[in-house]
Amino acid sequence: MFEALLDHRARLAETRIADLFDADPTRADGFRAQTGDMVLDYSKTLIDQQVCEALIDLCDKADLAVKRDAMFAGAPINQTEGRAVLHRALRNLDGGPVVVDGSDVMPAVLETLSNMERFADQVRNGTLRAAGGSITDVVNIGIGGSDLGPAMVTKALSPYQDGPRCHFVSNVDGADISDTLRGLDPGRTLVIVASKTFTTIETMTNARTARAWMMEHDADPGLQFAAVSSAKDKTTEFGIHEAHVFGFADWVGGRYSVWGPVGLAVMLAIGPKAFGAFLRGGQAMDLHFQSAQWAENLPVMLALQGIWHHQICGYATRAVLPYDQRLSLLPGYLQQLEMESNGKGVTMSGETLSQPAGPVVWGAPGTNGQHAFFQLIHQGRQIIPCEFLLAAMGHEPELAHHHRLLVANCLAQSKALMQGRDLKTARAMLADRFAGDELERQARHRVFEGNRPSTTLIYPQLTPYVLGQIIAAYEHRVFVEGVILGINSFDQWGVELGKELATVLGPMVDGDVSAAENDGSTRALIEYLLKHRDTR
Ligand code: F6P
Repeated sequence: MFEALLDHRARLAETRIADLFDADPTRADGFRAQTGDMVLDYSKTLIDQQVCEALIDLCDKADLAVKRDAMFAGAPINQTEGRAVLHRALRNLDGGPVVVDGSDVMPAVLETLSNMERFADQVRNGTLRAAGGSITDVVNIGIGGSDLGPAMVTKALSPYQDGPRCHFVSNVDGADISDTLRGLDPGRTLVIVASKTFTTIETMTNARTARAWMMEHDADPGLQFAAVSSAKDKTTEFGIHEAHVFGFADWVGGRYSVWGPVGLAVMLAIGPKAFGAFLRGGQAMDLHFQSAQWAENLPVMLALQGIWHHQICGYATRAVLPYDQRLSLLPGYLQQLEMESNGKGVTMSGETLSQPAGPVVWGAPGTNGQHAFFQLIHQGRQIIPCEFLLAAMGHEPELAHHHRLLVANCLAQSKALMQGRDLKTARAMLADRFAGDELERQARHRVFEGNRPSTTLIYPQLTPYVLGQIIAAYEHRVFVEGVILGINSFDQWGVELGKELATVLGPMVDGDVSAAENDGSTRALIEYLLKHRDTR
């Protein structure tokens, strides 16, 4: 499947990205994809026209158009769970009907959205009275997709926040909920229990702890709890008032769920209007993905960079580097989106893949990363394709000089990665300080190989609309890569075994059941824990 591309890789073995610019100074105009004001510049990669064509060919060979249309039409493309994949319906504000199993799901989606809006208005304007007055703080309890999405989006859109403060608790480690609740007024706090299944052990444990905390302080969990879940029977059993429960269907995967009720904390923070703009941004990206030619299709070209770098060039990891502090949670969010979706070992039909599907995705915001791990990106022997994200404008006009510095640093990094610094230049730089062998030795430490690929996603400003575009673009990128690799991007069986074993090990850690049957390491670790456990 990748033969032609592997040949191109060999053909380009001695070519440098900078050579491609020398050959075609207008290259940046051609090697980019744009939708609205958002541009993906992929010209600083070792991709030429022939590679581009071969990559685009993969889309046709994989029947991408047919599969994309099947997803949008509500076909059960998540084959191992027998489900449609329709998170896009949650942002289909102006779209037509979306039919699943013969019925249009849009009326229910829009009704839930307007229930969320009504509830958010009541909380935000103080109509919803808690035991101690209006709500000042919201604690979202969830994990994975029920945490990473709302936490990331709330932080990213903090300039738009005009509602209650939002806090996020995910880890079952008691430190998380304890640190979060400390200092909050139980009489003025709203707890959202966010769990698609309403069975996730971490979330349910934290939810019970929060409920006990409220009751201890004479607050009313009946009034001050809300739930977002597709398991309404379980939310009722937990004691959450029906009017505070916002449901969604099983065709919304956890890591794709921020667009609907799982985004309730976001809506409370920024208000229904700004949340609507976020949805519209996502929807705009859907329309672009559905209509643009592959070569101009931003999520498709993002995906093809991924395929080129990981499958063809063999680069094992990819760094996501937002030069946008408010996107500091984006790398973590994308880790779930990409690694849970495409971290698969078999094809849709169950055959073992001959090479890894998705890369390791990691990163941190710039400029911080420059002072931490960029050393390795520039001079380490492994090549790490970098994805920069950059806004033309910040939200602090009075600090525009900060933003200019941020931008200059981002551009400097992608330029340095591409151009590098050769030995001759390094020698010349040091010639007045060193000579002979010492000059040679010192100079070698200052060589940057360069020729390291990066892409830059650039946009006017991180508004709710733009953030919606960004997230939807990454979602579609994951889908496109999954289609080309022939895997199911929408299940997550790989998380199950650990959960099952934790259930078995729990009573052993409690000391109620013998640990003797375990392997030697697990047994010894449990013995250590029992010896040192907290007996207060
Ligand atoms: O264990 C993985 C996972 O199922 C994720 O896919 C999901 O986002 C997370 O757990 C939380 O699940 P839930 O929303 O059902 O609590």
